[in-house]
Amino acid sequence: MSSNYQTDAASIAKLAVQSDFPMRTFNTLGIEAIAHAYFSVGSVADLQLIRLDPTWSALPRLILGGGSNVVLTQDFSGLVLHIRNQGIQIVGEDSDAIYVRAAAGQSWHTLVEWTLANGLGGLENLSLIPGNVGAAPIQNIGAYGVEMQDRFHALTAFDFLTGEILTLRHEDCAFGYRDSIFKHALCDRAVVMDVTFSLPRRWQAEVRYGDIADELAARSILRPDARDISNAVIAIRTRKLPDPAVIGNAGSFFKNPIIPAAQRDALLSHYPALVSYQQTDGGYKLAAGWLIDQCGWKGKALGPVAMYQKQALVLVNLGGASGQDVVRLSKAVQSDVMTRFGVTLEPEPIFV
Ligand code: FAD
Ligand code: EPU
Repeated sequence: MSSNYQTDAASIAKLAVQSDFPMRTFNTLGIEAIAHAYFSVGSVADLQLIRLDPTWSALPRLILGGGSNVVLTQDFSGLVLHIRNQGIQIVGEDSDAIYVRAAAGQSWHTLVEWTLANGLGGLENLSLIPGNVGAAPIQNIGAYGVEMQDRFHALTAFDFLTGEILTLRHEDCAFGYRDSIFKHALCDRAVVMDVTFSLPRRWQAEVRYGDIADELAARSILRPDARDISNAVIAIRTRKLPDPAVIGNAGSFFKNPIIPAAQRDALLSHYPALVSYQQTDGGYKLAAGWLIDQCGWKGKALGPVAMYQKQALVLVNLGGASGQDVVRLSKAVQSDVMTRFGVTLEPEPIFV
């Protein structure tokens, strides 16, 4: 059972940290794990109190949003900081854009819905991505031809090292494919508290991703608006990806690997059906789902975990899986893809 810790200093007494906290419903893979301590964060003031408390500030930290991109490999001996602040508002506009700020604890899809309900386009291709706003910049979420960085303006973060509030603009964040400064120099240090998005006044449909074009054609929509695109994306995602409320998963389990052109050409000569996309630097991104599928892992289980039958890139919990079961399957898939194609698969979710 959980219990509450209190210290005697007046302000710190407000801290209600829970001990031995069960995490199964706080990660979408549905892994059973116990966190040594858990704290629900509503504001920067909460984080300041934690930082000033010698007991809690000494522990390893896990900053948590919706838990849809973490793998709890075992019990966590540190403090979970669950970011729960709420709110969405328009904070400015100019001739090019409307600026919308959302609190880190707000659900991502709720934000997308809010923008559409307010007649603002720009986030529709990113509909139905699980998780919260605060995590979106961490891996620069992306789907169906748009990345979060395409609509990002700035964010506010609490710096656990200095206790200061940081404002980071686009150029400070080092965004890349499933990457940002928050996975490197600011890892475990910056707690994102809110994100401001720049939504274009002169909106244009982004329908280059084949699946969207096919879905709109099937619906006989020639001139889609932002809501049409959102509906198409929701339909595609619902068909392909398992709903974490029904079957535990963390979305794509590996990043799509990027390899040099020469390696891609050599692979293509052996495997003419290889799925690859040219990058601006001349390299090629391979579809990891195709590589895993070719290795025979699609729909195949190892103990209580499997690669999903409709999308081989998604690792699913068939029920009662431990973090170690996930690690075992992940390594088996990586090993087979390396043996067959000579390509390294890097996990996308964060291993805790
Ligand atoms: P969490 O899992 O809680 O955390 C993820 C990482 O972010 C951790 O390292 C955590 O410490 C850090 N973090 C979280 N909040 C903060 C904060 N406020 N400040 C600092 N660090 C923080 N991703 C895509 O990019 N595109 C997709 O299409 C996509 N589809 C998915 C489909 C499914 C079914 C699932 C389950 C996942 C999918 N994902 C996708 C992955 C996931 O939705 C995103 O990575 C999402 O941004 C994670 O949000 P979260 O709040 O759940 O983060
Ligand atoms: N493919 C197969 N077999 C499979 C799965 C895929 O052959 O079992 C092939 C498909 O036929 C297609 C190609 O692989 O030709 C790409 O598949 P898909 O369009 O489903 O996209 P993906 O590359 O597997 C990426 C992202 C998703 C994002 C979609 C849509 C990564 C790691 N994943 O998946 O993001 O939603 O594109 O843009 O970049 C996530 O990050 O968690 C995630 C779900």
